[in-house]
This record gives sequence, C-alpha cells and structure tokens, in this order.
Amino acid sequence: MPVAFLVMACIAIAQFCMQYGPSSGTIGTYIHATSILIQRHAWVVLGSATLFWLLTFCGVFHERQSNASRKEKGWLMDILDRLTNRQVLEQKIAKEPEAVFIDTEQLAVSLKSKVIGQDAVCDDIAAQVRRRLALKQRGKPVGVFMLAGPPGTGKTYLAKRLAIELSRKLLHFDMTQFSSGGHGATQLFGSSKGYVGSDSYGKLTGSLRDTPDAVVLLDEFEKAHSEVHKNFLTAWNDGFITEASDGKQISTTGSIFMLTTNAATDSLQSLSITYANNSDELRRAATNALREAGFAPEVLNRIDRILVFKPLSGLDIARVTALEIEGMIQSYGLGIAEKGIAPEVLLDMMRNQEKRGAGASSRDLVRAVEESIADTLIEAKQKGHVRVSLVSFNGAVIARAEE
Ligand SMILES: Nc1ncnc2c1ncn2[C@@H]1O[C@H](COP(=O)(O)OP(=O)(O)OP(=O)(O)O)[C@@H](O)[C@H]1O
Ligand SMILES: [Mg+2]
Repeated sequence: MPVAFLVMACIAIAQFCMQYGPSSGTIGTYIHATSILIQRHAWVVLGSATLFWLLTFCGVFHERQSNASRKEKGWLMDILDRLTNRQVLEQKIAKEPEAVFIDTEQLAVSLKSKVIGQDAVCDDIAAQVRRRLALKQRGKPVGVFMLAGPPGTGKTYLAKRLAIELSRKLLHFDMTQFSSGGHGATQLFGSSKGYVGSDSYGKLTGSLRDTPDAVVLLDEFEKAHSEVHKNFLTAWNDGFITEASDGKQISTTGSIFMLTTNAATDSLQSLSITYANNSDELRRAATNALREAGFAPEVLNRIDRILVFKPLSGLDIARVTALEIEGMIQSYGLGIAEKGIAPEVLLDMMRNQEKRGAGASSRDLVRAVEESIADTLIEAKQKGHVRVSLVSFNGAVIARAEE
C-alpha cells in the first residue's frame, strides 16, 4: 500500500512539474525529462506495486490463518491445562508401574535347578509372575501366592530363590511372632497416635515404604492371629496398606506376597497324589482343605494362586543332598571337583534320611550334611586344598584334594 501511494504521489508531482515547472534552461530540461520518464513507467510501477501488495496481503492472510489454527491446536493440547491439573496428572502417570517382561522359560529353569522336585510349582509361579509383571495397570500386588505343603519341601526356599532370580529385596516375616491380634498388627502396621511406638513405622509398613517392589515372605502364615490376617486384605484387594501412626497409605502394587503354610499337610499331600495330573482340580480341592483347616474364606479368596508342594522322594533327596554339599563346600571357600561326590556318600545320607521316618524333612537332611562334612572340610582348608572331592571311608566322609 505505501508503495502505491508513493507512485501516485510521484505521478501527481510529475504532472504538476510538466504543467507549472520551468520549461527552459538546464534544470527545466531535466525536470521535464524526468516527468516524462515517470509518467511513461508509472503504470508499470503501479501495476507491480499492486501485485506486490496483493501477494503481501495474501501472505498476511495466510499467516493470520495459520496463527488461528495454531491457536486452535494449542487450545486442543491445553485442554488438560484448562480442565484439570495437567502436572499432577503427568506425575501420577509417571508413577504407574512400568510393564516388565521376563522370560518365563528362563525363570522356571533357574528355579527348578535350585528347588528340587517341585517342577510343577516352579513352572506355574514363573508363568504367573510373568503375566502379572507384564500388566501396566494392576491396582493390586503383582501376586499373592500361597505355598502349601509338608515341612522341609522347599516352600521358604522357593520364596528366597524367587527374590534372587528377580533381583528383588526379600522381606522375610516369621508370622509365628504375630500370634496375638492387636499387638501383632501394631508390630506390622504401626501404632496409632498417642500409643507406645507411634513415633516409628511398623515393620511391614516401614519396609514396604522403603522397598515397595520387594518379595514379601509371610512365613508360616497360619500361625499369625486371624486379626493380623485381615489386616492384609486391603494390601491384596486395594493395593495399599495404611500406617497407623500417621495414616499414610503405602502402595503394595509393586510387591509380590508369598505366604507359606503347613496347614492341612496330610490332606494336601493326598490331594497332590490324587490330582497329580490336574492342577486346576488340585487348586480347588486345596482351597477347600485350607478353609477346613481354619483359613478365613475372605483371605483365601484374595490369594491368586495356591501352590501345593510334594514330599521329596527317590533321587530328589539325593539332588537336595548334593546341592547342600556343594553349597557347604563353597561356604568354606573351597571348590568341588568334577564328579567330586562319591555315590556312596549320597547313598549313605539318603539311607539315613529314610531311617528318620516319614516325619523327617529336608531340614534334618541339611543338618545331617553339615554334621558329616563340616570337620573334614575345615581340615582340607587348613591343609591348603583348593578343590576337594568327598569319599566314604569307614562309615565317615572324608574330603580329599582333587587329583
Ligand atoms: N525342594 C527343595 N529343593 C532344594 N532344597 C530344598 C528343598 N526343600 C528343602 N530344601 C533345603 O532344605 C532347607 C529347608 O527348606 P525350607 O525351609 O524351604 O522348607 P519349608 O518347606 O519351608 O518347610 P517348613 O514348612 O517347615 O517351613 C532349604 O533351605 C533348602 O536348603
Ligand atoms: Mg518354611
């Protein structure tokens, strides 16, 4: 626009000069010539100026349009700012547990290599943990598993191994310590304000606050008071526990709860034989057996999986013995030679275990292993042996240096 005005002004001045300007002399000649030049080219200049102005106008128009659409887009993006507190929403989303994908096969193999004779349990728990860890939104713990079965079959051991395999902290609670209702609950969940101990968190609430993704082992769960059992219901149903001293909610959505029990051992043992090939039916029957043994139905209802452990027999006893021997040799800072345990050593230990009778557990076996090899391993260490093998000699076990 200003260019058009300028050109028009020039044409007007040129015409004025032509009419009223000096018509003779050098200056007059110059003015006359310039006026003719302006008049001749004025329309070209005016046309270009108009074109330029049109293009500029369209550009401005386009810019106005894109500004408007940008504004509109901005309005759409900021709807969360307009209608809610976007920052808080974003923070909450960031706190949601991330889906974790684990290799079931590998987890099952690792568990089975350590927890002997419980292959079905190890396969089941690996599959369950994988499915539940892969869920991004749960609102509940990763899992609540009940490990039931005879003493010394590896229930506590499996929970420990699972924590190791998943690289999670193990929070081990011996539930026999919480056999009184009120006191047991305050020990675990804290004391209300004004009561003794209300200045510190409960054992469970404090530990879960610090390590929310722990494996929580509630060992011998049936020995805790039924009131204590019920305190766990919100942990499993709603995904939090409440610390009594300050009323804070502590999330349990990242935790794995492992409960062990010896309750209903006899019926579970016969059920595990009857339903050896039907795990669904075994779980249903096991739930009934545990209900009859005194577990509250609402507690059993909230348990995701009941895993029944089988008594160890045959070569599985030899496997557990061999694992224990290997572990003990390593704990004395020694190595074990290839094929380093003479079969007679294992056979003697198996026979002794059988002699202990049906009530004997692998805990007796572990004790027997320690008694028979601890001294000879200490001697081997004192002699400077690095790797040893174990042989039977006059009814005793002797550690020899690797040949
Ligand atoms: N199935 C198994 N595989 C390997 N080792 C085992 C197995 N069962 C038991 N053991 C060995 O025996 C020890 C005791 O087993 P564990 O404490 O797991 O038994 P449990 O089933 O929890 O018994 P309880 O019901 O009496 O508590 C374990 O630390 C482990 O060394
Ligand atoms: Mg145990």
